Amino acid sequence: MSDTPTITQRPTILVVDDEPLNLQLVRNVLHADYRLIFAKDGRSALTLASTVAPDLILLDVMMPGLTGYEVCRTLKADERTRHVPVIFVTALADQADEALGLECGAVDYITKPISAAIMKARVRTHLSLVRIEELQATRMEAIRCLGTAAEYKDNETGLHVIRMSQYAHVLALAAGYGAAQADDVLHAAPMHDIGKIGVPDAILQKPGKLTEAEREVMKEHPRIGAEIIGNHPSSLFRTARTIALTHHEKWDGSGYPNGLAGADIPHVGRIVALADVFDALTSARPYKPAWPVEDALEFIRSESGTHFDPALVDLLTQCLPQMLEIKARWAERDEKSPAG
Ligand code: C2E
Ligand code: SIN
Ligand code: SIN
Ligand code: FE
Ligand code: FE
Repeated sequence: MSDTPTITQRPTILVVDDEPLNLQLVRNVLHADYRLIFAKDGRSALTLASTVAPDLILLDVMMPGLTGYEVCRTLKADERTRHVPVIFVTALADQADEALGLECGAVDYITKPISAAIMKARVRTHLSLVRIEELQATRMEAIRCLGTAAEYKDNETGLHVIRMSQYAHVLALAAGYGAAQADDVLHAAPMHDIGKIGVPDAILQKPGKLTEAEREVMKEHPRIGAEIIGNHPSSLFRTARTIALTHHEKWDGSGYPNGLAGADIPHVGRIVALADVFDALTSARPYKPAWPVEDALEFIRSESGTHFDPALVDLLTQCLPQMLEIKARWAERDEKSPAG
């Protein structure tokens, strides 16, 4: 990034105050780093906020006409402006007023008389927090695209990916994962079969049983997936890589690609193995019809301790009501009508 950003790259700040001297003060503090737009009352602030789309708003509380609180509430009620962080600039330094400001949806407040250092620091902090939120939203969207891309090759609806990720999330929480770790599982699980991108359609979409040679090609998808996901050090991508690589390992060591057994299989891999098969069995595939839930459960229980981690099979049984709720919510259209 450049040290001397061009005018268009500078964030825009809307500064609202009925006192011209205060506007001048803020101008002196911020004009070198930001594009500033001024409003001297609440009405024109609201108009400018929706037309100029500022990155941040510095808002005086006590103004003739609309007060800062009223302006803030209106901004937060409007779809076009609700995401813009509002910082109150207030002479009312008592705590009740600060609380009221935050209740209106402001992210922060600065008290008058204004300290240049504090104003610069608060503005910088809140602009970078917005940047982080944008990056996170973009990242989640990129991940969703990646998961859906793989799914498109063998299931046009993408619902398998949604269902199995939610099953895995429920199992992770039941297994005692913290909220953040369970969220990693929820967001990483959609990429479990990303490696299927590297498998020819003729094999993936074959209506019948695979030959031994075709199965060997299919068994490459965990390794291909791990390679596609790569080695990014974030916990989300590490979890995604682990899941892609280990979701076809089996508890007794007979799985692929590495023949890991028992506790040597990363726990998230064991969770996704169970979530994936539960959904694969209870859904139609090009090569098989959907099984009734009872048959799927019976099969999964019969594979407890051979294919699946027995502790997780118990958790699946305990969580069955939640599982069925997810299955019903994300049902394929033509599977919705028959009961079961
Ligand atoms: P998938 O369809 O997502 O299935 C994931 C896993 O669910 C399978 O891993 C398997 O453990 C389980 N599963 C799915 N359907 C059945 C079933 O009818 N019976 C049993 N006992 N288990 C089932 P697996 O076997 O390693 O297969 C991995 C992927 O290979 C499958 O993903 C699918 O894309 C493909 N595949 C497997 N078998 C066949 C087949 O007979 N024909 C075709 N066209 N593809 C297959
Ligand atoms: C946890 O993350 O709380 C459990 C993970 C594990 O068992 O590997
Ligand atoms: C887990 O395996 O329990 C979580 C892995 C991680 O977040 O790095
Ligand atoms: Fe798979
Ligand atoms: Fe799958």
